[in-house]
Amino acid sequence: MQLQAEVLRRDGRRIAFVPTMGFFHEGHLSLMRIGRREADVLVVSIFVNPAQFGPEEDFDTYPRSFEKDLELSRREGVDLAFTPDKPQLYPDGYQTYVNLENLPNHLCGLSRPVFFTGVATVVAKLFNIVRPHIAVFGEKDYQQLLVIRRMVQDLDFDIEIIGAPIVREPDGLAMSSRNNYLTAQQRPAALSLYKSLNRARALVESGIHDSVRILKEVERIILAYPDTEIDYLALCDLKSLEDVKNIDRPVLMALAVKVGSTRLIDNMVLDPKC
Ligand code: PAF
Repeated sequence: MQLQAEVLRRDGRRIAFVPTMGFFHEGHLSLMRIGRREADVLVVSIFVNPAQFGPEEDFDTYPRSFEKDLELSRREGVDLAFTPDKPQLYPDGYQTYVNLENLPNHLCGLSRPVFFTGVATVVAKLFNIVRPHIAVFGEKDYQQLLVIRRMVQDLDFDIEIIGAPIVREPDGLAMSSRNNYLTAQQRPAALSLYKSLNRARALVESGIHDSVRILKEVERIILAYPDTEIDYLALCDLKSLEDVKNIDRPVLMALAVKVGSTRLIDNMVLDPKC
């Protein structure tokens, strides 16, 4: 991969990169379409990264569909699929990790303590291997996008990071490989995330700017459904992810909710001036 990237770069070709863990859905395909549009060569990686899963998390059961993913990549005009295995990325004796100081101390980082180190490490490695000019990440993982942008800035990667809008199912559920775990009975509860985000937006736009009040209403909506457990609800600053008490500027409403044993995340930017 590194050699191919070198040759492509020498020929003056612009490389777009979409890192993934596979099990493609429309969200992944939307990232590929952006990459396709923005560069000459589109590279996709498929690697379920063990370093970003905690010991109690779903690494072993994470859905995988390798052949189907390759077929979908071909259909989207992907030029190169990079599909390393674990010993290639983390050989025996591996001991170097990328840690961020502040961004992981919020939202998902609190209940998934190894997640962002795992993500930053594998993405840094993939950047060094694929040598892209641009890389595309989904805004559903908003905190991950901020972490990657910060890492690129701090470690001087010469790569433009593009954020892509959340893709939703027709009923509003944000697309995620983990939606595959949901049963038909759990679906209404899963939709409580989107429903509560919309309610929060309506409240903010109607002039209610007190975060405590909005978060209470969001909590009420989610807990009205059976089988839901809130991991976090936050109204926070778009850059630092620090909590915002009075919504006097656009903020991120972010939430993580367990529906049965499936942990779902979603977010929306709320703008008091709309
Ligand atoms: O968003 C994902 O699918 C993963 O976290 C990523 C960026 C591919 C790193 O493993």
